[in-house]
Amino acid sequence: MKAILLHAAGGPEQVVFEETPDPVLLPGDALVRVLASGTTRNELDWEPTYTDQKGNSRLPSIPGHELCGVVEKLSPGVNGVAVGDEVYALTSFFRNGTAAEYIAVEAGVLAPKPKTLDAVEAASVPLSALTAWQALFDHGNLAAGQKVLIHGAAGGVGLFAVQLARWKGAHVIATASSSSTTLVKSLGAHEVIDYKTQRFEALVKDADLVLDTIGGGTRQQSWKVLKRGGILVSVAGEPIEQPDALPGVKGVFFIVTAQRLQLIEIGKLIDQGIVKPVIATVVPIEQARQAFELGYQPGKQGKIVLHVQD
Ligand SMILES: NC(=O)c1ccc[n+]([C@@H]2O[C@H](COP(=O)([O-])OP(=O)(O)OC[C@H]3O[C@@H](n4cnc5c(N)ncnc54)[C@H](OP(=O)(O)O)[C@@H]3O)[C@@H](O)[C@H]2O)c1
Repeated sequence: MKAILLHAAGGPEQVVFEETPDPVLLPGDALVRVLASGTTRNELDWEPTYTDQKGNSRLPSIPGHELCGVVEKLSPGVNGVAVGDEVYALTSFFRNGTAAEYIAVEAGVLAPKPKTLDAVEAASVPLSALTAWQALFDHGNLAAGQKVLIHGAAGGVGLFAVQLARWKGAHVIATASSSSTTLVKSLGAHEVIDYKTQRFEALVKDADLVLDTIGGGTRQQSWKVLKRGGILVSVAGEPIEQPDALPGVKGVFFIVTAQRLQLIEIGKLIDQGIVKPVIATVVPIEQARQAFELGYQPGKQGKIVLHVQD
């Protein structure tokens, strides 16, 4: 098959499109013919992109962790999914990824593709939407009537977080660049703060929850806007150290996990028109290097997706 391969750790300059052996199925796996693969801006910086769960190198590796595709074959005894099913999924960070014509993937993570989406749109959902869902609901326990601040709202995670928080009945305050204000409002944000010209920490107070997709100084300033009992959930930067100076607030850092049932719920919200993906750019897989380069450019709205095959 053809795939994107990384022969060494690095940035987009390491990305090559070439012939590689077909994936080998492990017990419990499905072989999926990949139609489209989502990308995340900095995934080439993630350690598991190059290692297995024990930390051993698995170069050359294939990047990509979210797909839309069609089930081609199943390991013996696998059920719950059938050959020919159209599926979407978040796949393991420690195995060869979705930027390939075929992938061997744990069948248990495959969910039915939302009916109203095409393959490119569906491939943009799993990693980002599951991260948003788990941040808001599993870690942040967001409830109707609460106030939530969502950083990076025009980005992959943020755009789903805004929509999911609004669906839940929260008051949604978002940070984004001024060029993305209209988009973020259309996704359901009640207030949008331009992070380049305004100081969110001076404008927001008594938040029940902050979702930090940025890290660094943004996270540091975010503690101040929480009310007593509030929680900061972060998915970016370093794991959280609780600041002693701010008693009465909590912080959580987590890594998203592949939850099929959550992906099914998200798919239902998509098919009901409550949540929608936003695609920044579609790039043919042969030009994947360009996709990763584009990811680092500021001002993109939504996800960059690789079109793999029809
Ligand atoms: N822990 C996990 O499980 C997990 C899962 C998914 C993603 N992540 C991480 O989460 C981060 C975000 O991912 P993503 O896919 O959403 O990235 P993305 O699509 O690149 O979005 C980032 C967004 O943040 C905006 N931004 C940049 N600086 C900002 C600031 N200081 N304040 C507010 N907004 C700012 C950018 O806007 P402009 O371009 O207009 O500046 C962009 O819209 C990445 O570091 C990713 O690795 C972690």
